Amino acid sequence: MRRIAVLASGRGSNLQVLVDAIAAGQLNGEIVGVFSDRSRAGALQRARDAGIPAFSLRPRDFDSRQAFDDALFSLVDSVQPDLIVCAGYMRLLNANVVEARPGRMINIHPSLLPDFKGLHTHQQALDAGVGLHGASVHVVTAELDGGPVVAQARVAVEAGDDAASLAARVLEREHPLLLATVAGLLDGRIAIHGAHPCFEGEPLHAPLQLGADNALHAPST
Ligand code: GRF
Repeated sequence: MRRIAVLASGRGSNLQVLVDAIAAGQLNGEIVGVFSDRSRAGALQRARDAGIPAFSLRPRDFDSRQAFDDALFSLVDSVQPDLIVCAGYMRLLNANVVEARPGRMINIHPSLLPDFKGLHTHQQALDAGVGLHGASVHVVTAELDGGPVVAQARVAVEAGDDAASLAARVLEREHPLLLATVAGLLDGRIAIHGAHPCFEGEPLHAPLQLGADNALHAPST
Protein backbone atom coordinates (compact mmCIF):
# COMPACT_ATOMS: atom_id res chain seq x y z
CA MET A 1 0.00 0.00 0.00
CA ARG A 2 1.64 3.22 -1.11
CA ARG A 3 -0.58 5.51 -3.17
CA ILE A 4 -2.72 7.86 -1.08
CA ALA A 5 -5.65 10.04 -2.17
CA VAL A 6 -6.84 12.72 0.27
CA LEU A 7 -10.35 14.20 0.38
CA ALA A 8 -10.62 17.55 2.17
CA SER A 9 -13.05 20.45 2.36
CA GLY A 10 -11.14 22.91 4.51
CA ARG A 11 -7.80 24.31 5.54
CA GLY A 12 -5.92 21.02 5.14
CA SER A 13 -3.70 20.94 8.22
CA ASN A 14 -4.08 17.15 8.41
CA LEU A 15 -3.11 16.88 4.73
CA GLN A 16 -0.06 19.05 5.45
CA VAL A 17 1.13 16.65 8.14
CA LEU A 18 1.15 13.81 5.60
CA VAL A 19 2.84 15.98 2.96
CA ASP A 20 5.56 17.04 5.41
CA ALA A 21 6.13 13.51 6.69
CA ILE A 22 6.59 12.19 3.15
CA ALA A 23 8.99 15.04 2.34
CA ALA A 24 10.96 14.24 5.51
CA GLY A 25 11.17 10.54 4.60
CA GLN A 26 9.01 9.54 7.59
CA LEU A 27 6.17 8.05 5.58
CA ASN A 28 6.76 5.52 2.85
CA GLY A 29 3.99 6.62 0.51
CA GLU A 30 2.96 9.14 -2.08
CA ILE A 31 -0.03 11.47 -2.18
CA VAL A 32 -1.30 11.02 -5.71
CA GLY A 33 -4.21 13.45 -5.58
CA VAL A 34 -6.19 15.80 -3.35
CA PHE A 35 -9.92 16.11 -3.97
CA SER A 36 -12.41 18.64 -2.68
CA ASP A 37 -16.02 19.74 -2.87
CA ARG A 38 -14.87 23.35 -2.29
CA SER A 39 -12.75 25.09 -4.91
CA ARG A 40 -11.36 27.50 -2.30
CA ALA A 41 -10.33 24.85 0.21
CA GLY A 42 -6.93 25.62 1.70
CA ALA A 43 -6.13 21.95 1.24
CA LEU A 44 -6.12 22.39 -2.55
CA GLN A 45 -3.56 25.20 -2.34
CA ARG A 46 -1.41 23.14 0.01
CA ALA A 47 -1.53 20.31 -2.54
CA ARG A 48 -0.54 22.58 -5.42
CA ASP A 49 2.30 24.05 -3.35
CA ALA A 50 3.58 20.51 -2.83
CA GLY A 51 3.24 19.61 -6.52
CA ILE A 52 0.34 17.23 -5.92
CA PRO A 53 -2.54 17.10 -8.45
CA ALA A 54 -5.53 18.95 -6.93
CA PHE A 55 -9.12 18.51 -8.10
CA SER A 56 -12.40 20.10 -7.07
CA LEU A 57 -15.97 19.66 -8.21
CA ARG A 58 -18.94 21.83 -7.25
CA PRO A 59 -21.86 19.92 -5.76
CA ARG A 60 -24.32 22.40 -7.23
CA ASP A 61 -23.27 21.40 -10.75
CA PHE A 62 -24.77 17.95 -10.18
CA ASP A 63 -28.39 16.81 -9.96
CA SER A 64 -27.97 14.54 -6.96
CA ARG A 65 -25.55 13.53 -4.24
CA GLN A 66 -25.01 10.25 -6.05
CA ALA A 67 -24.14 12.00 -9.34
CA PHE A 68 -21.63 14.23 -7.51
CA ASP A 69 -20.04 11.32 -5.67
CA ASP A 70 -19.83 9.22 -8.84
CA ALA A 71 -18.05 12.07 -10.64
CA LEU A 72 -15.71 12.80 -7.73
CA PHE A 73 -14.82 9.16 -7.27
CA SER A 74 -14.17 8.63 -10.94
CA LEU A 75 -11.51 11.34 -10.54
CA VAL A 76 -10.24 9.61 -7.40
CA ASP A 77 -10.08 6.27 -9.23
CA SER A 78 -8.11 7.89 -12.05
CA VAL A 79 -5.10 8.30 -9.71
CA GLN A 80 -5.37 4.64 -8.63
CA PRO A 81 -5.07 5.08 -4.87
CA ASP A 82 -4.46 2.18 -2.50
CA LEU A 83 -5.76 4.25 0.41
CA ILE A 84 -8.30 7.09 0.51
CA VAL A 85 -7.99 9.43 3.50
CA CYS A 86 -10.87 11.74 4.39
CA ALA A 87 -9.18 14.57 6.27
CA GLY A 88 -11.78 17.18 7.04
CA TYR A 89 -14.02 16.17 4.14
CA MET A 90 -17.38 17.58 5.18
CA ARG A 91 -19.85 15.99 2.77
CA LEU A 92 -21.84 12.86 3.39
CA LEU A 93 -20.72 10.04 1.13
CA ASN A 94 -23.21 8.00 -0.81
CA ALA A 95 -23.29 4.35 0.24
CA ASN A 96 -22.44 3.09 -3.26
CA VAL A 97 -19.04 4.83 -3.40
CA VAL A 98 -18.12 3.60 0.07
CA GLU A 99 -19.26 0.05 -0.48
CA ALA A 100 -17.35 -0.16 -3.77
CA ARG A 101 -14.07 0.46 -1.89
CA PRO A 102 -14.16 -1.83 1.13
CA GLY A 103 -11.31 -1.37 3.58
CA ARG A 104 -9.66 1.37 1.55
CA MET A 105 -11.15 4.51 3.10
CA ILE A 106 -10.44 6.07 6.49
CA ASN A 107 -11.70 9.27 8.11
CA ILE A 108 -10.39 11.41 10.94
CA HIS A 109 -13.10 12.67 13.26
CA PRO A 110 -12.60 15.02 16.21
CA SER A 111 -14.19 13.00 19.01
CA LEU A 112 -13.78 9.69 20.80
CA LEU A 113 -16.24 7.76 18.66
CA PRO A 114 -18.88 6.46 19.09
CA ASP A 115 -19.45 9.62 21.15
CA PHE A 116 -20.26 12.88 19.40
CA LYS A 117 -20.75 12.02 15.74
CA GLY A 118 -21.47 14.72 13.19
CA LEU A 119 -20.66 18.41 13.59
CA HIS A 120 -19.69 20.68 16.52
CA THR A 121 -18.07 17.79 18.35
CA HIS A 122 -16.14 19.98 20.80
CA GLN A 123 -19.26 21.82 21.88
CA GLN A 124 -21.08 18.49 22.12
CA ALA A 125 -18.33 17.22 24.46
CA LEU A 126 -18.50 20.36 26.62
CA ASP A 127 -22.28 20.20 26.78
CA ALA A 128 -22.10 16.56 27.87
CA GLY A 129 -19.60 17.44 30.61
CA VAL A 130 -17.12 14.69 29.71
CA GLY A 131 -13.62 14.76 31.20
CA LEU A 132 -11.99 13.02 28.24
CA HIS A 133 -12.36 13.99 24.62
CA GLY A 134 -10.13 13.45 21.61
CA ALA A 135 -10.00 12.24 18.04
CA SER A 136 -10.60 8.98 16.18
CA VAL A 137 -9.52 7.47 12.88
CA HIS A 138 -12.16 5.07 11.64
CA VAL A 139 -12.95 2.93 8.65
CA VAL A 140 -15.44 4.70 6.42
CA THR A 141 -18.71 2.84 6.04
CA ALA A 142 -22.06 4.02 4.74
CA GLU A 143 -23.03 5.14 8.25
CA LEU A 144 -21.87 8.69 9.09
CA ASP A 145 -18.87 8.52 11.49
CA GLY A 146 -20.04 4.98 12.24
CA GLY A 147 -17.37 2.63 10.87
CA PRO A 148 -15.07 0.61 13.14
CA VAL A 149 -12.55 2.78 14.98
CA VAL A 150 -8.91 1.99 14.23
CA ALA A 151 -7.12 4.40 16.55
CA GLN A 152 -7.80 7.20 19.02
CA ALA A 153 -5.99 10.01 20.78
CA ARG A 154 -7.34 11.14 24.13
CA VAL A 155 -7.33 14.73 25.26
CA ALA A 156 -8.35 15.89 28.75
CA VAL A 157 -11.03 18.55 28.96
CA GLU A 158 -9.75 21.37 31.18
CA ALA A 159 -11.68 23.72 33.43
CA GLY A 160 -12.33 26.87 31.47
CA ASP A 161 -12.18 25.15 28.07
CA ASP A 162 -14.42 26.51 25.36
CA ALA A 163 -15.01 24.86 22.00
CA ALA A 164 -12.13 26.77 20.41
CA SER A 165 -9.53 25.94 23.05
CA LEU A 166 -10.58 22.31 23.11
CA ALA A 167 -10.55 22.10 19.29
CA ALA A 168 -7.01 23.49 19.24
CA ARG A 169 -5.72 20.88 21.71
CA VAL A 170 -7.53 18.05 19.92
CA LEU A 171 -6.08 19.18 16.57
CA GLU A 172 -2.56 18.95 18.04
CA ARG A 173 -3.22 15.27 18.74
CA GLU A 174 -5.17 14.62 15.52
CA HIS A 175 -2.04 15.28 13.52
CA PRO A 176 0.20 12.59 15.06
CA LEU A 177 -2.81 10.26 15.25
CA LEU A 178 -3.46 10.47 11.52
CA LEU A 179 0.23 10.20 10.71
CA ALA A 180 0.74 7.11 12.89
CA THR A 181 -2.38 5.42 11.50
CA VAL A 182 -1.47 6.07 7.87
CA ALA A 183 2.10 4.89 8.58
CA GLY A 184 0.69 1.68 10.09
CA LEU A 185 -1.49 1.07 7.05
CA LEU A 186 1.37 1.71 4.65
CA ASP A 187 3.78 -0.62 6.45
CA GLY A 188 1.12 -3.30 6.95
CA ARG A 189 1.05 -3.31 10.79
CA ILE A 190 -2.53 -2.13 10.43
CA ALA A 191 -4.76 -3.81 7.86
CA ILE A 192 -8.45 -3.44 7.15
CA HIS A 193 -10.22 -6.57 5.97
CA GLY A 194 -13.65 -5.60 4.72
CA ALA A 195 -14.53 -3.12 7.44
CA HIS A 196 -12.56 -4.97 10.13
CA PRO A 197 -9.30 -3.44 11.38
CA CYS A 198 -6.40 -5.71 12.36
CA PHE A 199 -3.19 -4.83 14.17
CA GLU A 200 -0.09 -6.99 13.73
CA GLY A 201 -2.23 -9.76 12.26
CA GLU A 202 -4.83 -9.86 15.05
CA PRO A 203 -8.38 -8.48 14.81
CA LEU A 204 -8.68 -5.26 16.77
CA HIS A 205 -11.36 -5.43 19.44
CA ALA A 206 -10.81 -1.90 20.76
CA PRO A 207 -9.12 1.12 19.19
CA LEU A 208 -5.34 1.52 19.21
CA GLN A 209 -4.29 4.39 21.47
CA LEU A 210 -1.87 7.17 20.58
CA GLY A 211 0.76 7.41 23.31
CA ALA A 212 2.73 10.41 24.52
CA ASP A 213 5.49 9.04 22.26
CA ASN A 214 3.16 9.62 19.26
CA ALA A 215 3.18 5.88 18.53
CA LEU A 216 0.12 3.64 18.47
CA HIS A 217 -0.27 1.09 21.23
CA ALA A 218 -2.53 -1.92 21.42
CA PRO A 219 -5.42 -1.38 23.83
CA SER A 220 -4.79 -2.85 27.26
CA THR A 221 -6.88 -5.95 27.81
C1 GRF B 1 -10.34 18.35 11.71
O1 GRF B 1 -10.67 18.70 13.02
C2 GRF B 1 -11.00 17.06 11.34
O2 GRF B 1 -11.01 16.13 12.35
C3 GRF B 1 -12.40 17.56 11.08
O3 GRF B 1 -12.20 18.74 10.36
C4 GRF B 1 -10.95 19.31 10.73
C5 GRF B 1 -10.12 19.46 9.50
O4 GRF B 1 -8.97 20.18 9.74
N1 GRF B 1 -13.24 16.59 10.49
P1 GRF B 1 -7.93 20.38 8.57
O5 GRF B 1 -8.71 20.82 7.33
O6 GRF B 1 -7.21 19.10 8.35
O7 GRF B 1 -7.02 21.47 9.06
